Amino acid sequence: MNSLNIVILAAGKGTRMYSDKPKVLHALAGKPLLQHVLDRATELKPQQVCVVYGHGGEAVPQAMSGYAAKFVIQEPQLGTGHAVQQAMPHLADNSRTLVLYGDVPLTQHDTLHQMQQAGEGLVLLTVNLDNPTGYGRIVRNEDGDVQCIVEEKDATSELREIKEVNTGILLAPTQRLREWLGKLGNNNAQGEYYLTDIVAMAVQDGLAVHTVQPKQRWEVEGINNKSQLATLERVWQQNVANKLMAQGVSLADPDRLDVRGNLNCGRDVEIDVGCIFEGEVSLGDRVRVGAYSVIRDASIAQGTQIAAYSHIDDSEVGADCHIGPYARLRPGTKLHDDAHVGNFVEIKNSEIGKGSKANHLSYIGDSTVGSRVNIGAGTITCNYDGANKHRTIIEDDAFIGSDTQLVAPVRVGKGATIGAGSTITKDTPDNELTLSRSKQVSISGWQRPQKGKK
Ligand code: UD1
Ligand code: CA
Repeated sequence: MNSLNIVILAAGKGTRMYSDKPKVLHALAGKPLLQHVLDRATELKPQQVCVVYGHGGEAVPQAMSGYAAKFVIQEPQLGTGHAVQQAMPHLADNSRTLVLYGDVPLTQHDTLHQMQQAGEGLVLLTVNLDNPTGYGRIVRNEDGDVQCIVEEKDATSELREIKEVNTGILLAPTQRLREWLGKLGNNNAQGEYYLTDIVAMAVQDGLAVHTVQPKQRWEVEGINNKSQLATLERVWQQNVANKLMAQGVSLADPDRLDVRGNLNCGRDVEIDVGCIFEGEVSLGDRVRVGAYSVIRDASIAQGTQIAAYSHIDDSEVGADCHIGPYARLRPGTKLHDDAHVGNFVEIKNSEIGKGSKANHLSYIGDSTVGSRVNIGAGTITCNYDGANKHRTIIEDDAFIGSDTQLVAPVRVGKGATIGAGSTITKDTPDNELTLSRSKQVSISGWQRPQKGKK
């Protein structure tokens, strides 16, 4: 089989998005629409991918600069045929060309593969709709052979009765495509160069025209407004939820889960309602995630319990930890096994050793905390002097009394105890009690000040 080129049309303005952002850069499941299409395209191992862009200027190629694709500008936009023409100089003749759309994000690999298997000649992806309004109609002869596509605006009332419509996605021999596009005119209701006119040309050239239909209707749905975007977002999320449940993950409610990236789960994982997973997240065996937790780019090892409303970002969590409710692990956090991080505890760029606990209302930043350390409620590492960040080191078995400030750089020795309410500015010795607060005194006979009598 010949090699494959892919042309992705992405020049449209997206007027009905009412946005300054080009339509194809709006996100579905946290990823720009065009990126979904590029990822699909890449799976087909094409020789060349060509993105035709227009509205939004360089924003489109800039946002997609990670892809080995050719970006060609279409200016002005004179129709879908004209758009594909812009890509032709970059495509080798001895190949086939697949046309995809930057605003049709959910076409499945299987469907595109089926098109590649459908035979030589021209392959169209079509779908039957109860209400075909707005689409190009697939016109067939008595033998059922495709003759041409007629756009809604050019169709007679008789042709408008046809329920089989053009999705726009097609596969054509590149050399033929080049010839046909060269012959396109714009003598039609919209004054545009229609890509769809190549179908009649193929028929005239005696080429077979095959059709393939997608398994699901949403595979070929395009996005023109925020409502359609939200609809396809739900389709995506339902698919993710179904896949997770098929692998044995317990979802309290599959309709209340959002995965914007990849979520990998072990056995007997339980996820409560309203959780959001972004980027690359892995949850080990028996991990439970409480309601309304937000977890991004994190790995959580087996047996760890995350209570409701916890936020975890760019962090590594060991096995059998307890996190939350209302805990926040910021980038660079590493919790070793059996660590406990409780409510209103914020940890950033810090390592917490095995079995250590910070259960209430603390800030731990730029710190290295050893094993079996207890960090009392309200402990703060003062890591920032207004210009630079400094590290706090707390060695194994230390006990930090409540409401302690550790002014970094500072080290708390092994087994050291810090009395509650201390402000620690110097390193503290191993195994000793260190306090920095003044002694409690009581003044007998002291009187509260009184308001002056009038
Ligand atoms: C097109 C098809 C129609 C099909 C429908 C499916 C043509 C002539 N008609 O109609 O048969 O049923 O899609 O949705 O092809 N684009 C460009 N440059 C242009 C024009 C369009 O990049 O100059 C892109 C748009 O951004 C859009 C896509 O091509 O993503 C389709 O264009 P649109 O104008 O929406 O075509 P339709 O009129 O819907
Ligand atoms: Ca359209």
